[in-house]
Amino acid sequence: MKFFIDTASLSEIRLAQNLGVLDGVTTNPSLMAKEGIAGTVHVHAHYKAICDIVDGDVSAEVISTDYSSMIEEGMLLAALDNKIVVKVPMTEDGIKAIKYFSTKGIKTNCTLVFSAGQALLAAKAGATYVSPFVGRLDDISVDGLALIREIRTIFDNYAFPTQILAASVRHSAHILGCAKIGADVMTGPLQAIFSLLKHPLTDSGLAQFLADHKRVAAQSNN
Ligand code: E4P
Repeated sequence: MKFFIDTASLSEIRLAQNLGVLDGVTTNPSLMAKEGIAGTVHVHAHYKAICDIVDGDVSAEVISTDYSSMIEEGMLLAALDNKIVVKVPMTEDGIKAIKYFSTKGIKTNCTLVFSAGQALLAAKAGATYVSPFVGRLDDISVDGLALIREIRTIFDNYAFPTQILAASVRHSAHILGCAKIGADVMTGPLQAIFSLLKHPLTDSGLAQFLADHKRVAAQSNN
């Protein structure tokens, strides 16, 4: 399973990259706004800066909502770097834009997916990635992981090459759930990735190992 980080923060991206497990980055307009990035020149420069840090795919979301503006905006984003994946919302115009980009060999990520039917449509249009939002479904008491399972079944039935990018992942249980189901990618915040490191028995076990070593090392020095 590929690990993407869901942030526009360059420092967080560097931390995940330095851990050695990062396969890509997803951003969205809210995450860009959180970093105070606005205006085409700054937005493009920021995506370039992200691409310079990571080795994998970087999802850059269009702000446009009508077909021709999405195409224009997406083409400019795709021209920034070959790591750029044009992120397009799940709308009628969005599906048409995904179809256009796929015929041009431009990678796409269909975002804001909340049903298996939407995922199927995105796959039919040739999306590189489809992003079902696990956490936001859980927030409204709908089982987000069940949607990942449903999409996995459908994509496997027809060998769709579209990758399931489990999005809106919030914690380690989401990551493990996605891994068990067979999501191709998960994207989540830095703390969700780092939370996989933690187990209290690891901490206490290491403390014991080091204490035992120190005790015997002190004795052998006497
Ligand atoms: C998807 O790519 C989105 O950027 C993201 O995963 C949304 O997550 P959130 O629900 O935590 O905002």
